[in-house]
Amino acid sequence: MNQAEAQVRIAELREQLHTYNHNYYVLSQPSISDYDFDMLLNELITLEKKFPEFNDPNSPSQRVGSDINLEFNQVEHKYPMLSLGNTYSEEEIRDFENRIKKLIDGDVEYVCELKYDGTSISLTYQNGKLVQAVTRGDGVKGDDVTANVKTIRSVPLQLSGKGYPKEFEIRGEILMPFAVFNDLNEEREEIGEAPFANPRNAASGTLKMQNSSVVAKRKLDCYLYYLLGKEIPTRNHYSNLLAAKDWGFKIPANTAICKNIDEVIAFIKEWDENRDSLPVPVDGIVIKVNSLDMQEELGFTAKSPRWAISYKYKAERVSTKLEKVTYQVGRTGSITPVANLTAVLLAGTTVKRASLHNADIIQNLDLHENDTVYVEKGGEIIPKIVGVEISERSAEAQAIKYIEECPECGSNLVRKEGEANHYCPNDMGCPPQIKGKIEHFISRRAMDFDGLGEETIDLLFQKGLIKNIADLYSLTKEDIIPLERMGDKSAERILTSIENSKQVPYERVLYALGIRYVGITVAKKLAKAIPSIDKLAASTLEELIEVDEIGVKIAESIVEYFSGEYHQNLIAQLKEFGLQLERKIVENENASNTLEGLSIVISGSFSKFSRDELKEMIELHGGKNVSSISKKTSFLLAGEKVGPSKFEKVEKLGIGIKTEDEFLEMIGMHS
Ligand code: IVH
Repeated sequence: MNQAEAQVRIAELREQLHTYNHNYYVLSQPSISDYDFDMLLNELITLEKKFPEFNDPNSPSQRVGSDINLEFNQVEHKYPMLSLGNTYSEEEIRDFENRIKKLIDGDVEYVCELKYDGTSISLTYQNGKLVQAVTRGDGVKGDDVTANVKTIRSVPLQLSGKGYPKEFEIRGEILMPFAVFNDLNEEREEIGEAPFANPRNAASGTLKMQNSSVVAKRKLDCYLYYLLGKEIPTRNHYSNLLAAKDWGFKIPANTAICKNIDEVIAFIKEWDENRDSLPVPVDGIVIKVNSLDMQEELGFTAKSPRWAISYKYKAERVSTKLEKVTYQVGRTGSITPVANLTAVLLAGTTVKRASLHNADIIQNLDLHENDTVYVEKGGEIIPKIVGVEISERSAEAQAIKYIEECPECGSNLVRKEGEANHYCPNDMGCPPQIKGKIEHFISRRAMDFDGLGEETIDLLFQKGLIKNIADLYSLTKEDIIPLERMGDKSAERILTSIENSKQVPYERVLYALGIRYVGITVAKKLAKAIPSIDKLAASTLEELIEVDEIGVKIAESIVEYFSGEYHQNLIAQLKEFGLQLERKIVENENASNTLEGLSIVISGSFSKFSRDELKEMIELHGGKNVSSISKKTSFLLAGEKVGPSKFEKVEKLGIGIKTEDEFLEMIGMHS
C-alpha cells in the first residue's frame, strides 16, 4: 500500500469505527460483531504505525489507551464547575419553586433528569474534536485526564452531524455500571486486592489511574447533561440535549419535561421505585429550569445555580444488631472480616451478614460488641454497614478487636505496609487456603474441571487424598467412588476432565496456579512475553517489570512464588503429569514460509485454538491475516457459526474454505 492509498484507507477505517462505536456504546444498537470490529481496529493500528504522518489524537485507535505514565496537569476551568443544592423532601422542592416564582412571572417548565452517581467531568470540543477532559477538582481547577477519557467508548472523539459550535464545553458524569463494578471487585478480591467501596469510588479511582490502557479495560460509561459556550444551539435546555445527542453524545436516559412542580414530584416518586432496575448507579433526580433565558435571569448563588436543584433519594437503610464479627480466610490467605447480624429485611432480601472488608473499616466505624448498626444496600451485591447508633451502646461494650491469629490455623497474621488487608502467611498449611487454591485451580476460567465442585474438593481434602493441585492428577477411581453421592459414572467424568485438563493452554495454567495478583489478564500478558514456566521461574524482578503491564507488586509476588522449594516441587510434579507449561507456539522455533503470499480471512469460533493464536500462526508461517473478504483473499479459515453472508461472498468470488484441522495440517501442526 502506498502513502496515498494508506491515507484513504485510514480515513475510511476511522469513519467506520466511529460509527460502529457510536451504535454500540451510545445507541446500544451493535451493528457489527466484536470480532470484525477488532479486526478493523487492528488494521487501523497497523496502518497508523506504518504511516505515522497521518496520526490523529482523536483516532478510534486512541480508545485502547497507552502504557505511558500520566502526570496530570492542573487546568483552570473556563467556567467554574459548581455543584447543586440538595433536597430530600417534597417540601424543599416546593421551596425551590417558590424561590423561582419570586423572580420569574408566568409558567416555568422543568426538565427532570436522573442524577447519576459517578464523578463529574468537563469536556472541551473544538471543530468537532475532543481536545480536553478535566475533572471537577476544587471547582476552579481540575486535573487534565484527557488520555483516560478518550478510552471511554461512549465519549465521542469526533462529533457527527452538523451544527455543533466551533468551540464549546459539555459537562457530565463518568460512571461505572454495576455489572462492571461487581466483576471488577470479584476479580480484585480473587487476586488479593482490596475491593472498591462503591461504583462512584471505582469510577473516580479509575479516572485517576496513570496507565490509560488499564482504564480502557474498566469499561466506564459517560452521560453528558450540560452545554456551555458562546454558540449554544437553542435557548432551551432540553432541545440542547437533543442536539448534543445528534452530535453523538449519550444524554441522560428517561429525561422528562414537566409543566409544573406537581409533575416533577410525580416523576421523583416514579423513579424512587424504578431506579433499582437501572444498570448504572442513580442517587437522585436533577430538576432544571428548561428555558435558558429564565436560567440567566435566575443566575447563581456563590455555590450553585438558582435554576437547578437535586433531589437525593435516601438509600434504603435499616438498623439491626451486630451479633459477632467472624473472619474468612481466602485462597491467597487474605482475611475478610464479616459482620454477623440479627436477620433483617432490606430492599426485599433478608440480610444476615455484611462484609467489613478490612481492619480500617472496623476502626473507622468504631464498631463495638452488640452495637446497633445501620445497614444499606445499593445496587451492589453485598450490603454494607454505614453507621453505628452510639446512643444504644452499653457502657461495658468493648470495641471490636481485630484478630491477631488466623482463625483457621492459628498462625500470626501479617499486614504489609500500604496494604488494606491482613494475611495468613501459612499458605501451605492453612486448610481454607489449600482448599481455596484447589477450587481456584479447577474453576471455569482456570482449568475448567467438569463434575468436580467445592463439596467434592472438601471431601477429598478431609480424607487426606489431596493436599495440593498436583495430587488431583494421581486420583484413581477407587479414591473417588467411596465419596458421598459418587457413582461409577461421576467418578469417570471427573477422571476424564482431569485428563482433559492436560491440554489447557499455558496461559490458563499460569492463572490457575493462583499466584497472588496474577489474574487472567496478567497471566495472558506473561505467557505472551515469557513463553514457558521455566523461563518465568528464572526471571528476575527487573526482567518481569519490563513486561507490559507488570508492575513491582506483581513482579515481587511472582519472584516470591517461584523462590520457594514447595512451589518448585509442585511445578516439577505438574510437568511430570504432562500439563501445558509452555506456550504451544514458540516464536521462531516452528516458523516456516508455508503461507507466504497468502491472505487469509479468519471467521467463526474454533475448538483447538483461539483466533488470536490462529492469527499468530498465520504470521509465523509467513501469511497475512486480513479482515475482509476480497478478490485477493486466498482462503477463508472457517470455524463454527460463520455468518451466511461470508459464505455467499466466498462462493461468489470462488475462494476456498479451510477448516481448523485442514489449516493445522497445512502448517504441519496436526496431531
Ligand atoms: S447538572 C450547574 N445533571 O450531581 C449544574 N448534574 O450534586 C451542573 N450529576 O456536580 C450539574 N447527574 O456531578 C447535573 N443529570 C445531571 C446530573 C448531575 C449527576 C452530578 C454532577 C453534579 C452533582 C451535583
